[in-house]
Amino acid sequence: MRRPRPARQLPIPPPDPAAPTPLYVQLVDSIEDGIRHGRLQVGQRLPAERDLASDLGVSRTTVTGAYQELEARGLLRGHVGRGTIVVGTPAGTPAGASRAAVAWPQRVSAMANQAAQVWFGIPRSRPDAIALDSGWPDPKLYPVEALESLLGELVGTSSAELYAGAPPAGDPVLREVLAGWLAARGIRTEPDSVLITTGALQGLNVVARALLAPGDVVITESPTFQCALMAWRWAGAEVVGVPVDRDGIEVDALEEALARHRPKLLYLIPTFHNPTGAVTSRERRRTVLELAARFRVPIVESDLYGALHFEDPPPPPLAALDDAGLVIYQGSFSKIAVPGLRVGWLAAPRGAMAPLTAAKGYVDLSTGELAQRLVAAFLESPHRERHLAFLRAECRARRDQMVAALRQYCPGLGFRVPPGGYYLWAELPAPITTDELLPSAAEHGVTIRPGPEFAPDGGLDDHVRLCFAALEPRRITEGIRRLASALARAGERLESRPRRTSLAAASVV
Ligand SMILES: Cc1ncc(COP(=O)(O)O)c(C=O)c1O
Repeated sequence: MRRPRPARQLPIPPPDPAAPTPLYVQLVDSIEDGIRHGRLQVGQRLPAERDLASDLGVSRTTVTGAYQELEARGLLRGHVGRGTIVVGTPAGTPAGASRAAVAWPQRVSAMANQAAQVWFGIPRSRPDAIALDSGWPDPKLYPVEALESLLGELVGTSSAELYAGAPPAGDPVLREVLAGWLAARGIRTEPDSVLITTGALQGLNVVARALLAPGDVVITESPTFQCALMAWRWAGAEVVGVPVDRDGIEVDALEEALARHRPKLLYLIPTFHNPTGAVTSRERRRTVLELAARFRVPIVESDLYGALHFEDPPPPPLAALDDAGLVIYQGSFSKIAVPGLRVGWLAAPRGAMAPLTAAKGYVDLSTGELAQRLVAAFLESPHRERHLAFLRAECRARRDQMVAALRQYCPGLGFRVPPGGYYLWAELPAPITTDELLPSAAEHGVTIRPGPEFAPDGGLDDHVRLCFAALEPRRITEGIRRLASALARAGERLESRPRRTSLAAASVV
């Protein structure tokens, strides 16, 4: 057997097989110590798992476990095939965390590890970081006064009924209010075709439980909302992406994908798409419905941002054009008012209601009744339209601020001006990728969402998603200035990187 030796590319000792601590934990400790004491630098690329394992004389699983644990701690970030990079420093790591008796990274499912990376993987090495990676509205925009006054009325006049809990499908008052509001937007639906979910995200997981089995295929736009990707994959489905351009999903490519993959579900965000901001044209909406009918594929239409248009109102939702009972329509209170009440909704064709309601019931019985009644009171009050008008104006001003700041400070970034919603999708100047940009952004105190998170089929590491809804205009400008510095730094690093032969090549010889 080959004797282990210190890693030639990493200034760390080989783990000791005779020590009582698991090998991967020793490796975690050594790498963390290296980062803490500056022997490993933020931005430094670590050897591929295979190479490090061979160099240290340990199994690849040991290195994988160590990298995963360090990723979960926000210290490393890895992409398959493109290596692992130091992205954070260990401040705040709970003392002795690596001494756990259970090797958690090796115990949890691959999906949970992947989810942890999306959730915790954005490096934030500065406490004053400006969060351009957000997906929420700025709390200063919440309709707090209106909600507080409605809550006062609700609690003041309520009975025990308020505390008994709602049926799984949702509170009847809210279902009725929503059916009325959706009808006003052209979606013909009855209260008993509305299902209340604990946020739209739960709606996706409920749909997955009701409609998908392991091995099924789901077609989405590419890119698409990263948590939807996780919801479909966690149900065991394979996700196939179809590109989006200015006019939404490319319908020829969609037709080809439908014929080839025979999917069980089509998940689309036709209006102010997350992350690109694209709006699917009316003509393409009709084609999408025709194709779905021809291939007999249900559509989940996510319409969380449709009310937030900055110019002309967008075309009607797919659900309003659907006369074949194909579309499960989705909305949420999170993006039009506040995210913390966790109230979302699905409006489904009749045949889909029973399985969806059963799935919802098994997930959490029902969404909190108090939150549902408060949302119902808000949506049927004049506050709704007043607040939507206010939010549109605010988001538009913030979009304009971001666009102006990008043009001034980041002329090398490519983007289209989004006509509504929360997000701007930006293309990085070549050859910078998110692998280089993320650590630099952390150093410069700005956070962004990397393109690969939104990619159904890999790639997109030359894009980032920026959110303009979450910050005051002044902070947006400062965030973009920091982004410009981070881009410059990432570019410098790329230029100064020595072209080295890989460790694998060196150690094989
Ligand atoms: C397309 C899409 N679906 C669902 C969600 C989650 O919304 P909720 O807060 O209602 O769970 C988001 C939030 O970013 C989103 O953009």
